Amino acid sequence: MMTTSATPVQLLMSRRSTKLVRGPGPSDQELAQILQAGMSAPDHGALRPWRYVVIRDEAVGRLADMAIAAVKRTGDPRMTPEKEKNNRTWLAQVPLVLGVAQKSFFDGKIPEHEQMLAVGASVMNVLNAVHMLGYAAFWSTGLGTNVPDVQEALGFDPLEYRFLGFVAIGTPAVDLPTMQRPDFHEFVTEWTGGKPHM
Ligand SMILES: Cc1cc2nc3c(=O)[nH]c(=O)nc-3n(C[C@H](O)[C@H](O)[C@H](O)COP(=O)(O)O)c2cc1C
Repeated sequence: MMTTSATPVQLLMSRRSTKLVRGPGPSDQELAQILQAGMSAPDHGALRPWRYVVIRDEAVGRLADMAIAAVKRTGDPRMTPEKEKNNRTWLAQVPLVLGVAQKSFFDGKIPEHEQMLAVGASVMNVLNAVHMLGYAAFWSTGLGTNVPDVQEALGFDPLEYRFLGFVAIGTPAVDLPTMQRPDFHEFVTEWTGGKPHM
């Protein structure tokens, strides 16, 4: 974490993702703050399409068992014994995982992609709250994110929900060096009313 003399914007810019987390994870009170931060996301139509499932402590090991077995049942050749071992070794250290899903509203009022953007914004708030509390996180779409059995086991019927992955959260196990981010100029144009200037 940056020193407390960092401005709020500097703090935002210092966020890094890392899989290498361990205990202690956030306390109940901190977890409540993290999840509440996820509620302060822009949300067209106030649909609140974000859903989170909290998986902690011993349940993280059960998640590994469940997801690995489900991926194997699909016959996915990428779940090699080595990959299985790596996943288990990784998750054995992780104190908290949030499963993230989008509840889809199909009444045509708000396009589905806007609902997904709201969930992404909610997760971004979660990631930033994690960072500001001195923890680290990693959003991944591995671990059987796209396997219907995994989604259903976590309570998200694929007919109603779009499962969007797992956020592993804990104390960073390594010092995270500052990451060189791209210069915004490469990604930004200004439009002043004439022809686009690229
Ligand atoms: C929706 C989503 C899914 C992701 N899934 C994976 C993943 O499965 N594996 C992976 O290595 N990184 C994945 N990432 C990227 C990492 O979460 C992370 O953003 C990346 O390592 C860059 O780190 P940074 O956040 O510090 O820039 C995903 C990111 C997003 C937004």
